[in-house]
Amino acid sequence: MSAAAATGGKPAKGGGGHGPRHVAIIMDGNGRWAKRRHLPRVLGHQRGVEAVRRTVRAGAELGLSALTLYAFSTENWRRPEDEVSALMGLLKHFILSDLEEFARNNIRLKVIGDVSVFAPDILALIDHALQRTAGNTGMIMVVALNYGSQDEIARAARAAAAKGDITAETIAAELDTADLPPLDLLIRTSGEVRLSNFLMWQAAYAEMLFLDVLWPDFGRDHLEEAIAEFVRRERRFGGR
Ligand code: IPE
Ligand code: IPE
Ligand code: MG
Repeated sequence: MSAAAATGGKPAKGGGGHGPRHVAIIMDGNGRWAKRRHLPRVLGHQRGVEAVRRTVRAGAELGLSALTLYAFSTENWRRPEDEVSALMGLLKHFILSDLEEFARNNIRLKVIGDVSVFAPDILALIDHALQRTAGNTGMIMVVALNYGSQDEIARAARAAAAKGDITAETIAAELDTADLPPLDLLIRTSGEVRLSNFLMWQAAYAEMLFLDVLWPDFGRDHLEEAIAEFVRRERRFGGR
């Protein structure tokens, strides 16, 4: 029996704790996956897209409310132009090939980050995908594109200042993630132990999990095991 069947589509429970509602993943290790196989990096990114597919399906079936995926950082523009354009091509292809399945599965798409800098054709595709899934009520698939926490917090602080006081609450209300459930679990693949400018504000009390698996090898079993590990942890939020 799958975990989704076992839990009736609700977040996995066990050990007295609840499963996470909002999981975020730093999808890292595509390049190393390819390098180990003497393949071009872009093939690693292609296999990374397949891992995205598997993980979104699994996340929805496991009853997550939100799954946030770090797809392109504000720093990733530093990569060679051919890699950046390959990533943009994969993004377009992914939306075109997978949007209907996600839409049918009641998944709602959301984008965080400053997408205003993207090419008009990509922006149009993103807009179309957002509109196509806007009425859906299932898991929110959040894709972080040209996302950086520092940029997000600066934008939020500017918006808060324009309205009045700058406090933790007024900044939080202007973050790209303001309408999402609090971040419960942050996963990074590839063995690197850093945030790389991802959800730094939101991670204040998130549980973190750094896995040695490279992103193209990630799948349902890893997500299920991560959720099980989350459930075993004791969260205190500064209290006792
Ligand atoms: C993550 O894989 C994908 C993106 C950053 C878009 P990498 O391309 O960073 O893979 P490594 O870290 O070089 O192995
Ligand atoms: C973080 O991975 C960004 C994404 C996964 C999109 P990077 O590979 O860009 O991070 P660093 O450079 O190793 O810190
Ligand atoms: Mg990397």
